Amino acid sequence: MSGDIGQRKDHHLDIVLDEEVAGLPPAVGLGRYTLEPDSLPEVDLDAVDLSTTFLGRRLSAPLIIGAMTGGTDRAGEINRTLAQAAARVGVGMALGSQRAMLVRPGTTASFAVRDAAPDLPLLLGNVGAVQLNYGVGLAELRRLVEGVGADGLNVHLNPLQEAIQPEGDTRFSGLSARLADLIPQVGVPCLIKEVGAGISARTAARLRDLPIAGVEVAGTGGTSWAAVESHRAPGDALRAGAGLRLAGFGVPTAESLRLVRALLPDRLVVSSGGIRTGMDVAVSLALGADAVALAKPLLEAAVQGVEATVEALEALIFDLKVIAFCCGADSLDALRRVRVVDLRSGFPQEPPPGV
Ligand SMILES: Cc1cc2nc3c(=O)[nH]c(=O)nc-3n(C[C@H](O)[C@H](O)[C@H](O)COP(=O)(O)O)c2cc1C
Repeated sequence: MSGDIGQRKDHHLDIVLDEEVAGLPPAVGLGRYTLEPDSLPEVDLDAVDLSTTFLGRRLSAPLIIGAMTGGTDRAGEINRTLAQAAARVGVGMALGSQRAMLVRPGTTASFAVRDAAPDLPLLLGNVGAVQLNYGVGLAELRRLVEGVGADGLNVHLNPLQEAIQPEGDTRFSGLSARLADLIPQVGVPCLIKEVGAGISARTAARLRDLPIAGVEVAGTGGTSWAAVESHRAPGDALRAGAGLRLAGFGVPTAESLRLVRALLPDRLVVSSGGIRTGMDVAVSLALGADAVALAKPLLEAAVQGVEATVEALEALIFDLKVIAFCCGADSLDALRRVRVVDLRSGFPQEPPPGV
C-alpha cells in the first residue's frame, strides 16, 4: 500500500513533466484577459509595493507555490528546493497530499521542509477531503499539520481525479458534514481547494457554510488531473479514455475566481489553475484574488534547482510590478481596482468613474 503511494507520486511527477496534461480543450485560459493600462500612471516604479499578509504571514508578493508533492526521496528533494526558493523570495509554499505520512511515517521527512528553509514565511499542509471517508480523523489531521509545522491546511476536492485514477477513492457522500465537524478542531486555518477542475457556484454555496478560511479555485486551463491519471491507466481502456475525454471538464479559472469571490466575500480566495505569466497573476488579483498559486511551472523550475526556481519566481514578481506600474497601481489594493479587459469584447470606451 505505502509503496504504491510512493510509486504513484513519482509517476505523477514524470507525467506532469513529460506529457501534454495542461491547457487542454475545452479549457479557456486566462490569456484572453488583460488589464487596462495607463500611460500616465502618476506612480514611481520603485514605489510599487506588492507585499501582503496571508493567514497572518507577511509575503513579499501574493504568491504561493501550489500543492504538489511529497512521500518519496525524489519528492522530498523537490519540496526542499521549492521551500528554499520560496524562503529566499519571501513567498508561500503548499505541500502535496500528506496521506503517505499516515501510511508510512518514515516519509514525513519528505514533507518537513522547515529545517531546510527556516525563513519560509508560509507553509500549507494538504490532505484529500475524501480521506475523511477512508479512516482519516481529527488525530490524523493534527498529526499532518504538527508533523511539518504547517501554518494552514489545504483540504483538496478531486472527484474527477479519483474517478479516473485506477485505485481512486470515490466514496464522497457525507463529506460536507464531516468537514464541518473536523475543520474547527484542526488547530490551524483550513482552505478548500480543487486540483484543476475548478470550484463551481454550486460547490461554493456549500463551502460558504463550512468554517474555512478560504478557497483555492484551481480551475481548468492548467494541469488536468483527468489527463494525468489517464496516463497512469494504460491497461484500463475505460479509465484512460475517460481521462482524455474529460480532461477539460470543469470551471475555467477566471470564471471560478469571479463566482467564488462573489459568493464568499469575506474569505480568502486563491487563484490557481493555469497561472503562467505575470499578467495571469495581475488579472487574478483584479478579479478579486487575495493570492495566486502556481504548480506545474514551478515543478519544471524545481527539477533544475533552487536558482532556477528563484529566477522563475522573481521573473513573475518583476512582471507583476511592471504591470502594476503601467496600470497606475502602487499597491495590491490599487491593482485590484484596475479594470479587467476581456480581449474578445475589447477595451472599455469610457474612462472609469472618478477619472
Ligand atoms: C505534480 C503535481 C502534483 C500535484 N499534487 C497535488 C496534491 O497532492 N494535492 C493537491 O491539492 N493538489 C495537487 N496538485 C494540483 C495543484 O495544486 C494545482 O491545483 C493544479 O496543478 C493546477 O495548477 P497548475 O495549472 O499551475 O499546475 C498537483 C499538481 C502537480 C503539477
